[in-house]
Amino acid sequence: MSTSRLRVVVATLLFAGAAAPTTMQAVASSWGGGSGGSCANSGCTTAYAVPLPVPQVMTPTSTDATTDYYTVTERKANLSVIPGKTTPMWTYNGTWPGPLIRATSGRQVKIHVVNNLDGPTSLHNHGAHVTPSSDGGPTDTFPTGMSKDYTYPNNQSARTQWFHDHAKDVTGRDVYMGLAGLYEITDAQEKAFNLPSAAYDVPLVLQDRTFNADGTLAYSLDSSSYRDGFLGDTQFVNGAARPYFKVEARKYRFRILNGANARYYNLSLSNGQSMQQIANEAGFLSKPNNMSTIKLAPAERAEVVVDFSKVPSGTSVTLNNGSGWNSSSGGLMRFDVVPTTSTDTSTVPATLRPFTPLPASDVSVRRTFKISQDRGGMWTFNGQMYDPQRIDANVALNATEEWTFDNRSGQDHPIHLHDINFHVVNESWQSPTGPDTEWKETINLPSWSSVTIRVKFPDYTGIFPFHCHILEHEDNMLMGQFKVS
Ligand code: C2O
Ligand code: CU
Repeated sequence: MSTSRLRVVVATLLFAGAAAPTTMQAVASSWGGGSGGSCANSGCTTAYAVPLPVPQVMTPTSTDATTDYYTVTERKANLSVIPGKTTPMWTYNGTWPGPLIRATSGRQVKIHVVNNLDGPTSLHNHGAHVTPSSDGGPTDTFPTGMSKDYTYPNNQSARTQWFHDHAKDVTGRDVYMGLAGLYEITDAQEKAFNLPSAAYDVPLVLQDRTFNADGTLAYSLDSSSYRDGFLGDTQFVNGAARPYFKVEARKYRFRILNGANARYYNLSLSNGQSMQQIANEAGFLSKPNNMSTIKLAPAERAEVVVDFSKVPSGTSVTLNNGSGWNSSSGGLMRFDVVPTTSTDTSTVPATLRPFTPLPASDVSVRRTFKISQDRGGMWTFNGQMYDPQRIDANVALNATEEWTFDNRSGQDHPIHLHDINFHVVNESWQSPTGPDTEWKETINLPSWSSVTIRVKFPDYTGIFPFHCHILEHEDNMLMGQFKVS
């Protein structure tokens, strides 16, 4: 990037960014359950003892005819996230997860990001369709004491994105330390849908962490054992360990994000009730899908409507994570059902956003990326480690291509492309089903299998990364670059 975009931060900016703690942190630090004297470190939190913090929608610092302006300060904060301990974290504006930014389709957002941490950072708005200069790629970092302005045109339909740090080689550590927040785009179609909204539209950010006995987060960049992905032993939702959430006996919309570094989730409700999945990370599906389980690889999102109206008030339903590779069994959070305060007039439309696949006849180029791990534990596409100087795919503007990711390794890899959505045309292990048949932006690739995606590259020229979203695989070189020109 050009250094002309960098600006020295003046003291006032630091204070402007240091917003008062939201209710999230205030809630997260009031513990309902006993902490237990024998509880030295991780895994010892009491289930369902703390309320679910709900991220507050951030207010712009200013607005004009075309744009909403925000300031986000990356700074250290001492947070209370496990009982009786203080955990130093790296945050966006002092909370974990960071603030929720709500954008409107067609209306620009500019975020002024101030780096008040100890090393270079890069803010990537994951899911955003943007120019490379605002994409927040791994080498587009800005150092301590500096800032960068990101511009998001939001020329996309309604969807749930998230922003997180993306600095080269240290993304896993930086996200683990707390650098992740939510970014929602709304549009007229969504508003017309009459889905559960406001207090009944709740994000659920799933993450896992392991702590040292002193409450600090356990994570080591040097550990080669992390190259296969770091799994925490304590489960968090919106920054609270296995919280409870009082829900009225009515419909809720939950925007579920797998914000973990490497953990997979296989979600289900303890009463066997299905969830109506209405959206994935690329926005609304063509129709609601009734799902008894929902698998989420790192960075994937699922938006679901859950109807608690048939659940007797005074009873509870837990959101469970089924066992499986990279998973951990048990309840992630508990919904405690209470009577409704008003009539639920929300509805789930039978049809949502039409999906039209890219025509096969438009495909002009086919590429294959073989994934393997070298003897040192480093991850490669076609035998090559990530190199910011190398272009792995030269793409013509407006071309439609098919990319096959061929997984020659014994681990799953969630594949993510910056800039653009794709759809799956072939999965070697099954026929694509349900939400996986429509627009996607991250797709899980099971071990020893392959997936072919079809993708078109309109609008933006320049260099964008694609990579595995297991952050330790990404940091250990499972990343390539495509150049649109
Ligand atoms: Cu969320 Cu390049 O990633
Ligand atoms: Cu991977």
